[in-house]
Amino acid sequence: MSRVTFTIDGKTVKAIRGQTILKAAEAAGIFIPRLCAYRDLTPHGSCRVCSVRVNGRIQAACVQTVAEGAVVESETPELQEFRRNLVDMLFVEGNHFCMFCEKSGFCELQALAYRFGIAAPRYRYLNPKRDIDLSHPDVYIDHNRCILCGRCVRASQDMDRKNVFQFVGRGSRKRLQVNGDSLSETDLKATDEAVSVCPVGALMRKRVGYEVPVGQRRYDGQPIGEDIETREDK
Ligand code: SF4
Ligand code: FES
Repeated sequence: MSRVTFTIDGKTVKAIRGQTILKAAEAAGIFIPRLCAYRDLTPHGSCRVCSVRVNGRIQAACVQTVAEGAVVESETPELQEFRRNLVDMLFVEGNHFCMFCEKSGFCELQALAYRFGIAAPRYRYLNPKRDIDLSHPDVYIDHNRCILCGRCVRASQDMDRKNVFQFVGRGSRKRLQVNGDSLSETDLKATDEAVSVCPVGALMRKRVGYEVPVGQRRYDGQPIGEDIETREDK
């Protein structure tokens, strides 16, 4: 297996040739924030939260592969501000109700906001009018909280071998659509990976909300990314 050596914020990292910067960093115990990337899903490079500078140029770490001798910058004030702004904009672009959302404490958007020190958005709320599809017996989709990360689209295709979700429209008109008139007309099951991978409270199982008490939820005690940063096998 051919290897390359490069640096992230001055730290020498050895990686497998062809690996993405995000995965190589993760293997080295360095957390690069991300939203649309998820474990083994094909990277999509759409949210740009994982932006780093590679030899001076901004690149998405989830799609950019490592190169011998590359100089990668990640935790600079400029990039932290850039990511913070992206997360900030996602909050105002949709309708997020963190205080009441069943995903609170497990939501990656909320967890990133905590990590970036966002207490209140700095931009004006757009308050879009969006639908909630409650038609399915076991799953619902609240488009108000969808951040268009595309994880469900990729998981449905690649892991569930279905094609339940797709994007329609472009720019500010882009939205998530299902392959039926409503969720109940699709072959989506509550056990599908597509449901599990949603980073926010948009695609949710019914009747399981608020199961874990406050204080015991995933990001209550541990900031997002800390599991990577404190891994012992790095
Ligand atoms: S429903 Fe969830 S997983 Fe699917 S695009 Fe929206 S936020 Fe991403
Ligand atoms: S995580 Fe890389 S662009 Fe979204």
